[in-house]
Amino acid sequence: MYSLLRSLLFRLEPEVAHQLTLRLLQIGGIEPVQSVLRAIYSAPAKPVQAFGLTFKNPVGLAAGYDKNGIAIKGLAALGFGHVEVGTVTPRPQSGNPQPRVFRLLEDEAVINRMGFPGKGAEYVRRQLSALSGQRATVIGINLGKNKDTPLEEASNDYVDLMRHFMLSADYLTINISSPNTVGLRRLQGREMLESLLGAIQKERETISLGRGGNAPILVKIAPDLNDDELDDAIGVILDKGMDGVIATNTTLAREGLRSKHQSEAGGLSGSPLRGRSETVLSRVVKLVTGKVPIVSVGGIMHPDDAKKRLALGASLVQVYTGLIYRGPALVQQVVNSL
Ligand SMILES: Cc1cc2nc3c(=O)[nH]c(=O)nc-3n(C[C@H](O)[C@H](O)[C@H](O)COP(=O)(O)O)c2cc1C
Repeated sequence: MYSLLRSLLFRLEPEVAHQLTLRLLQIGGIEPVQSVLRAIYSAPAKPVQAFGLTFKNPVGLAAGYDKNGIAIKGLAALGFGHVEVGTVTPRPQSGNPQPRVFRLLEDEAVINRMGFPGKGAEYVRRQLSALSGQRATVIGINLGKNKDTPLEEASNDYVDLMRHFMLSADYLTINISSPNTVGLRRLQGREMLESLLGAIQKERETISLGRGGNAPILVKIAPDLNDDELDDAIGVILDKGMDGVIATNTTLAREGLRSKHQSEAGGLSGSPLRGRSETVLSRVVKLVTGKVPIVSVGGIMHPDDAKKRLALGASLVQVYTGLIYRGPALVQQVVNSL
């Protein structure tokens, strides 16, 4: 069924196709469509405990798909064990000029340079409140800084976002690894990361002493860190009491591509990211020595990819580009295969 929809969607500009799909998923959150989707995409429960949360299965939707949290119910009906909304920035912003998403068909990949377009924290918080008790899946919120916030003041943005979401999200992700916000990845360096995560740790204590609420905080890292940089980053993440690592975001690498779009600027995702994502996962598994759970993302296009990540030591997996190429049944196929 998806091959027909895919051939229609692939005739559209990638971002137009995405907006259309998101609208359809918004409708998918309304009854009785939601029940129909649930029935089609039902899969046995494969519960996972991680970060103090219970996930109905280990397959989640990676950040960037539903940036404003408008289709959470429809996405939950596709069977995801968690949905990571965002990246959310404190204030609304338009992102980079279009076109900014490219399909690399021959490579089963995507290059994007979205630059965190979004409606801002207040809007997303209202989407979460509107869900109230009807949460059919774990909801994470992925946090990023606004483009016009100087890097030295980035921690103000993350702290502001924590105040917005600490009580309403099931978990938070500190995104310091998107390649499309100038300088953002520098926050992964030892000194800047210590200062940023120090501020986050402090704010977390203040929030949990005051209004209560202590959502687990994960840090999402890039696949392009070398071994020393990765060792440093994981050291700081553990030192500052963070609850988990998401590895990885998109890559700036461009080896072995065939598509005419290969030279577009931005982050590459999908099949070509698979190998690097696995290598980073293996190293992170060694470094964290079981202290915190790891979420593996990057190039998971088949059930076997997901099984391999879990075997390598990930507690959860996330997909994005696989969903574009294989369709929503990928979630069910992965869960059934476990
Ligand atoms: C169009 C697009 C937009 C994305 N936007 C975000 C984002 O806003 N925040 C983020 O942390 N990751 C973002 N990502 C990265 C994904 O969450 C994921 O880490 C990456 O695509 C690798 O997984 P995949 O190979 O399954 O796509 C985006 C990816 C794509 C393709």
